[in-house]
Amino acid sequence: MTTSSTSQHSRPRVVLGVSGGIAAYKACELLRRFTESGHDVTVVPTAAALEFVGAPTWAALSGKSVSANVWQDVETVPHVRIGQTADLVVVAPATADLLAKAAHGLADDLLTNTLLTARCPVVFAPAMHTEMWEHPATQANVATLRERGALVIEPAEGRLTGADTGKGRLPEAAEIFAFATDLLARGGAREQDLAGRHVVVSAGGTREYLDPVRFLGNRSSGLQGYALARTAVARGAEVTLVAANVTLADPAGVKVVKVETTAQLQEQVLAASRSADAVVMAAAPADFRPATFTDAKIKKAEDGSAPEIRLTQNPDILAGLAADRPSPGIVVVGFAAETGDENGSVMDHARAKLARKGCDLLVVNDVGGGKVFGAEDNEAVVLGADGSTTSVPRGSKSALAQVIWDRVTPLLPTR
Ligand code: CTP
Repeated sequence: MTTSSTSQHSRPRVVLGVSGGIAAYKACELLRRFTESGHDVTVVPTAAALEFVGAPTWAALSGKSVSANVWQDVETVPHVRIGQTADLVVVAPATADLLAKAAHGLADDLLTNTLLTARCPVVFAPAMHTEMWEHPATQANVATLRERGALVIEPAEGRLTGADTGKGRLPEAAEIFAFATDLLARGGAREQDLAGRHVVVSAGGTREYLDPVRFLGNRSSGLQGYALARTAVARGAEVTLVAANVTLADPAGVKVVKVETTAQLQEQVLAASRSADAVVMAAAPADFRPATFTDAKIKKAEDGSAPEIRLTQNPDILAGLAADRPSPGIVVVGFAAETGDENGSVMDHARAKLARKGCDLLVVNDVGGGKVFGAEDNEAVVLGADGSTTSVPRGSKSALAQVIWDRVTPLLPTR
């Protein structure tokens, strides 16, 4: 038996399986993302997928010939070779039919043969109408595939093929790509150390309204929270992401709850945390809100005087979660942006904040240089309530997210 190994090849080998749903066109963008970032991609469509997007498109974008059946290039034994030599198989979109075949081990075309011979991680990104997704047959097939170690990304909610909306959309190509590359970056490890766990992540910055059109806000981009959500899904968690005013695409397989104000953020984080094993407050809730909200837009005064805005304090969500744990043993994680001053170093302030907030872990960013907001990368120290520290050198927000989950997992309540 040949086993796959990225170390033997300079470029990770990805098999992109495409089954016959209208979302097949979105797989073209996914393919582009893989090839442009240096992956060696073999596209294996089903015959039905070729009804939606033709073989020339896949061949041109991947730089390789494409076939749906096992009768082409038989001398190279493609029905065995493609699966055996892959570092990762991603099936996007995965139809109800394809999931059923995969769950039952059928092998009547090149893709289903490939799925039987692959020993690398296999990711399915289902896309179908809500009724088909929710049908007990599909749900049983998904459960079977997951039991066997396959990663099945929850479909997104939104507009479907017709005029209807619901759960069943293929997540954005960028999000499937991020999920897949995260997996590859972890050496293809299928370590599902968050499987069976529910985690809640907050992200973004809240808005506190003065009137229907004006608000006090902040510059939080939501990037770190979204990276936390993505990486938790890749490690097998069920993830609820409470997002305040974030314009990023929903991460694949994540339940996204959109909020605007700190009060809404608190309500949604609390509600989701009642069934959670961990909650990470990566959001930047406003500490203050206008004391009064005016239903009508505030007009300029005739005499040219400016209105005075009185502020009132918002609840500290993190401190509240830590003091009154919404579920037994839930791990509570906070973030802190600190600068050193004459009263102490960044870490002095961080230790004091961790004690004040009562959380289990505090992710400390030194913002002395004025960076972090909106930046693609990050550098931090993860501080534990026991005084332990893990320094995370400058790197991607995903890399920091992985370290945060590494620190969370040993603290998770026993179930
Ligand atoms: N946080 C929260 N609720 C708030 C404000 C902040 O839950 N109303 C959370 C953030 O999500 C983050 C952590 O608290 O996890 C960081 O809070 P920070 O703004 O640094 O705390 P403050 O108490 O505002 O600290 P400082 O007094 O230093 O501004």
